[in-house]
Amino acid sequence: MAESPKAERRGFLKLLAGALAAAAGALATVPVLGSVVTPLMKPKADDGGLLRAVSVTELQDGVPRRVELVSTVIDGWSRAVGVIGAVWLLKKPDGTVSALSTICPHSGCSINQKTKSTYGCPCHDSTFELDGNATDGPSPRPMDPLEVQVKDKDVFVKYRRFKIGVKEKQELGAVDCPRRGRDLA
Ligand code: FES
Repeated sequence: MAESPKAERRGFLKLLAGALAAAAGALATVPVLGSVVTPLMKPKADDGGLLRAVSVTELQDGVPRRVELVSTVIDGWSRAVGVIGAVWLLKKPDGTVSALSTICPHSGCSINQKTKSTYGCPCHDSTFELDGNATDGPSPRPMDPLEVQVKDKDVFVKYRRFKIGVKEKQELGAVDCPRRGRDLA
């Protein structure tokens, strides 16, 4: 016996409600799936914490260049991009590149280039040679050198921070997050 139009409509509405409930359930799983998958998409630390600074072609032999290092960190749903610190890069005639932290070992001010062949700290007048050696002022040690690698014409630096105000260089640990490095020189 054929169903009445009323019964047919009831059947259709039931089907529609079932389909909508299934769709809502599927949508509800999206954030859950995301929270599982997103951490898997985090960049792997296979570069040993090296950050690209510049192309080696942008450096002139014997001319220091100040470069800010930018890092990107993906943590769960948040993504932070920003400057974590700065370095003085120097290319030598043999093609090797050295990096010195811009943070003054005395009290942490930002070191500038003073003359063609020296750096200087504006806070208490420490002076350093281009290799970082301290020649004048209260800095208890030379400027802090950082590890550099040149790969395919790009210069990479492993950025680190060191304890200030002490004679011996003491590493404070890796700086990999722009939020933690925001106030660095
Ligand atoms: S902070 Fe650089 S000399 Fe004092």
